[in-house]
Amino acid sequence: MGVEYRAVQWNRQKKLYDAVLVGSVAVFLTTFGVLTKLLFPRVTDEIMLMRAFGTAAFLLLHVILCIGPLCRLNPKFLPLLYNRRHAGVTCFVLGSIHAFLVVITYHAGSDTNPILSIFVSSLVTKSLAGVPFQPFGFLALMILFLMAATSHDFWLANLTAPVWKALHMMVYVAYAMLVLHVTFGVLQGEGSPAYVGAMGLGLVTVVGSHLIAGFREAKADVSTETMNVLEGKIFKARGPDDPLNDGYVDACPVADIPENRARIVCLSGERVAIFKYDGKISAVSNVCQHQNGPLGEGKIVYGCITCPWHGYQYQPDTGASPPPFVEKVPTFNVRVMNGRVFVHPKPNPAGARAEPALIQARNQQAETQMGKSEAPQPMVTVA
Ligand code: HEM
Ligand code: FES
Repeated sequence: MGVEYRAVQWNRQKKLYDAVLVGSVAVFLTTFGVLTKLLFPRVTDEIMLMRAFGTAAFLLLHVILCIGPLCRLNPKFLPLLYNRRHAGVTCFVLGSIHAFLVVITYHAGSDTNPILSIFVSSLVTKSLAGVPFQPFGFLALMILFLMAATSHDFWLANLTAPVWKALHMMVYVAYAMLVLHVTFGVLQGEGSPAYVGAMGLGLVTVVGSHLIAGFREAKADVSTETMNVLEGKIFKARGPDDPLNDGYVDACPVADIPENRARIVCLSGERVAIFKYDGKISAVSNVCQHQNGPLGEGKIVYGCITCPWHGYQYQPDTGASPPPFVEKVPTFNVRVMNGRVFVHPKPNPAGARAEPALIQARNQQAETQMGKSEAPQPMVTVA
């Protein structure tokens, strides 16, 4: 967490986020209800409500799934990510109301247990339209429940970040279940082509935004070493002092990193965030311990690297959160020479201090050692 942490976090942004979320859901439900009454006057109130809540939950899940890729494509979407878990809990609540209305309407009237009835009420037939669709909805609801119940940071700390992350990746399983639920449900029901079209559009949007963001990141990830080979650059060690002798990799020019910001490079398959601050350079893993946010897209605030997603903070030289917080990310050894940053690709253990490289002193030292006539030649020679 961060140096500015306060126990009560109902700040203005959070209240605004929740107000917009609840307001949008209310507007959607009202519009859905009015349109159903106008266009399908024979649909009963219970059916109208169950459709309205089911559709609202499904639509909100699309928005939640698209927020991640959108933020990777454009940081302007970051405010949507800030409290995405509130949207997740809202989605579960809407889905639960839908399921409750379904159970009351279709499954509470017989001797069979209502939950069992969801699984046995419609038996598999040979036709595609006969596939029972309600169990898919039930399984999706269980996943949404697990995610909503563990959404608080208390669970993140107790389950550990990898377990929590794995659990929350199950949102994609829930989404797949719901696509099947709605597809087979619509096939069995009135089968409006508008529903089928809207669902196809939703699927294309979710898959498309993930693919575009994935390709964009993979392109940026072509490792620094590979890039140098592709660009025809050959690095030659310039004497015994050269960082290249010790396995360091020429990462980027110091001038490419804005003050109090970072440049992200990919070394040996791992993303590394190289920060410039107070005349120094430090490098840490790009992956925030909270929810894998991209630390290199954050900035230095109060002397700490601040994650752009929810504001967790880490000291740039140790990768450790300021006390009393305990999160830690791996650090990387860095050197600066001739105006370029060299990073050793082997990470130090999370929280282990790596001496920051002084930008000015190292450059001057290099100049003095080389003498004026040999002063800073580029380390890179084009073949
Ligand atoms: C126990 C869990 C669930 C059950 C038993 C269930 C059951 C049903 C039923 C019976 C229908 C057809 C309603 C009708 O039109 O007559 C339906 C439709 C639908 N459900 Fe579910 N559902 C469950 C969970 C969910 C969840 C969690 C979501 C979304 C997050 C969802 C989204 C939808 C949507 C979008 C439709 C299509 C709207 C419509 O035309 O009815 N369902 N579900
Ligand atoms: S603070 Fe949440 S991902 Fe970094």
